Order: sequence, then C-alpha cells, then structure tokens
Amino acid sequence: MQQGRLPICLDNRVLRHHGVVAGATGSGKSNVNSNIVRAAINMGYCVFLFDHKPDYQNLDKPNDEKNLFSDINWQPQGFDCKLCYFSLSDDKSGKANKNETLINVYASSFDPYQLASALFYKRGEELQQENMTLLLSAYKDDQEERQKYTWTLADAVKWIRQLTKEQMSNVLGGGSITDKSMSSMLRKLQARTMPWMDRILTYNNAQLPGLSIPKQALAPEINVSGLIEEKTINIIRVGQSQGRDYGLFLSFLLDRVYKAKASNADLPPIVYVIDEAQDIFSGSKQLREACEDMLDANMRKGRSLNIAFWFGLQKFSALPDSITININSRIIMTHKQVDEAKNALPGASQELLSMVTGLKPGESLMSLFGSNSIVQGKMHPSKALLTKE
Ligand SMILES: Nc1ncnc2c1ncn2[C@@H]1O[C@H](COP(=O)(O)OP(=O)(O)O)[C@@H](O)[C@H]1O
Ligand SMILES: [Mg+2]
Repeated sequence: MQQGRLPICLDNRVLRHHGVVAGATGSGKSNVNSNIVRAAINMGYCVFLFDHKPDYQNLDKPNDEKNLFSDINWQPQGFDCKLCYFSLSDDKSGKANKNETLINVYASSFDPYQLASALFYKRGEELQQENMTLLLSAYKDDQEERQKYTWTLADAVKWIRQLTKEQMSNVLGGGSITDKSMSSMLRKLQARTMPWMDRILTYNNAQLPGLSIPKQALAPEINVSGLIEEKTINIIRVGQSQGRDYGLFLSFLLDRVYKAKASNADLPPIVYVIDEAQDIFSGSKQLREACEDMLDANMRKGRSLNIAFWFGLQKFSALPDSITININSRIIMTHKQVDEAKNALPGASQELLSMVTGLKPGESLMSLFGSNSIVQGKMHPSKALLTKE
C-alpha cells in the first residue's frame, strides 16, 4: 500500500461518468454530494438533486459547522448559482425551502402500462394491472381520436365508469369483470394517487369582497426542458413520497431530459444526484425491476449525451447488479459491516476492504474513473449549509 497525501479532484472526466457514494448514516455522504454538485456547477453543468431527508434546502447559505474548516484550506460558502426548489410532496414540511414549487405531471404523460404498473404493484394484483392497462389504453386512444392529449386519472375513471357491459368486454378483449372487482379496482386506484399527479390548484378570486368563489383548475405541467440551464441546481424534495411514485416520477423526468438533450446539442451537461437511492430499490419485486430497467437504459444511453448519474446509498450492497455494472466511480465511506461493502471495490484485498468499518466521517476508500488504484481519502466538508434534523 502506498502512503502519502495528495489532493484528489473530481474533474470533468470523473464527473461525466456514473458514480456511487455509499456509506452508513452519518458517514458524510451528503457532504460529499454537496461537493460533487459544486464541482459540477463550477464546470457549467445543470444538476438535478433529489433530496429525501431533506438535506439540501438552504444551499445558498454557508455551512455553519465552522469547526470542520479549522485546519483546511477551504471556506464555508453558499452556492451563488441559480437554485430552483421543487417538491413531489405537499406535506408542508417546515424544513422545506419556502420558495419551493409543487411539481405537477399529468396522468396522460405516461404510458398506460407504466401507470397501471405503478398503481397495481402488489403481489396478486397482476390481473388488475392488466385490466387497468387495457382500460387506460382504450381511454387514451379514445381521447386521441378527439385530439385531446391532456387528461387526468380522474377523467379516465369517469370514462371507465360509464362504459356499458358490451363496451367493457370489447376493451378487455372479450373478458369481463364483475361490478365488485371493478369497484375494488377503482377504489384502490383512488387511494393510490400520487400527490404530484394531476394537481388541482385553488385560486381565490377576491375581486368582489364577500363574494369570492374559489376557482379550481388543473395546475400546469412542469416544463422540464426549461429547467435545463447551465450552472443551475434543481433541487427536488421527495418528502414522504414512497419509492413507488418516486420511481414513476424519475422515469418521467429522465425521459423528458433525455429528449431535450437529444434534440438540442447546445444544452449543458447534466448530473443527476440521487441521494438515499436505496428507496428506489426497496419496493415490490415488480416495481424494483421496472425502476432498475428504466435506470439501466437511461444510464447506458445517457453517456453519449453527457448525462451522468451519481447515487447516494446507505450501503453499497443495496445497489442492484444491473446498476452496479454501469458504475464507473465508487466513493465508499464507512459501512456497518464489511459484507455490505463487498463488490464495492473490485480488486481490493480483504485487508483493504475491512477498513470500511473503521472510517471516520468524511473518510472514504475510492476508486475513481480513469484510475486503477484504490485510494483512501478524506473529503472536505460541504461549503454550503446542509439542512439539519
Ligand atoms: N468531510 C467531512 N469532514 C469532517 N466531518 C464531516 C465530513 N462530512 C461529514 N462530517 C460530519 O458528519 C456529519 C454527517 O454528515 P452527512 O454528510 O450528513 O452524513 P450522511 O449524509 O452520510 O448521513 C456532519 O454533520 C459532519 O459533522
Ligand atoms: Mg445524507
């Protein structure tokens, strides 16, 4: 093992390839992620930062853990680039940035199969999922014939409810469904709607005092290509959303970003920083596999368009194999057990690997793209403030 101190920098070559920052809670992942975001911003990237805890709601402010900076050449400093805060959840968390925009996506923006799979994802719901795919596809076709491309899940349910027995049988390819299963299916669907889908906004029309009638209208859909700007961080607070709808939103975002990049070569490079990514892979088997396939495909095709993925994980072993094979750089912080870090550093001796249980906050074993050695490093803390518990 070579000893000595040398600075390691996250240059563009490392950054534009995919990476993982893995470590137990408190190991310093969020601080590293903040540094990755800073490196990307300095190189003109557009960053999409998924914020679970939340950790990144005050990035314009300097880090207040001043003691961490006493013997290093590195100062606390908030980001002075463009920061845009969004939220999937409408939990009104007190920790949320007060300028956050609630995200809205129309049900019509999804493929019927994708939507039905996210709604009926439990074991034993395969038939409901199949029926819902057929019903939503039929509804989508019906609307497209009328040149109507924007609709909500509630619109679709209304249409499904008014189908005659004969129409229903046609849609289901000759099959039939009892009234009881139909209402059970629609009841589940209503209980599982996502807060960020088909949002209704209430406008208070207060022009006539005492006579104001609140007006309700469908919120506009988020314009993803408009978010892709150089030196901009789009922070997306996930809040209480579950892995299920988080995965569905990811597939929407990744698809829109990819299309925008593919059709406009002038757009800046992109980094996705997906912290606490184990949540995406924790759903039912079917859902997990759908997310894996979606990410795998996006990681492969993203490379040529300068779209990189960086995942934050509580343990490296939470990363599915199909994603691991796409990863080029690994920053491994302290793990509770050596076993959780196995496969993280291919080629590492057992002796080296066993160090992962003794690393201090900010310390890591790294294998970065373009280098064939594993180094032990101490990362600088985040310059920007991280939201506290
Ligand atoms: N690079 C670092 N150098 C020194 N201390 C650090 C460093 N990174 C993190 N810490 C300490 O560890 C704490 C937890 O860091 P955090 O990044 O939130 O961990 P995680 O995201 O893994 O839970 C910080 O509040 C800080 O006190
Ligand atoms: Mg964290």
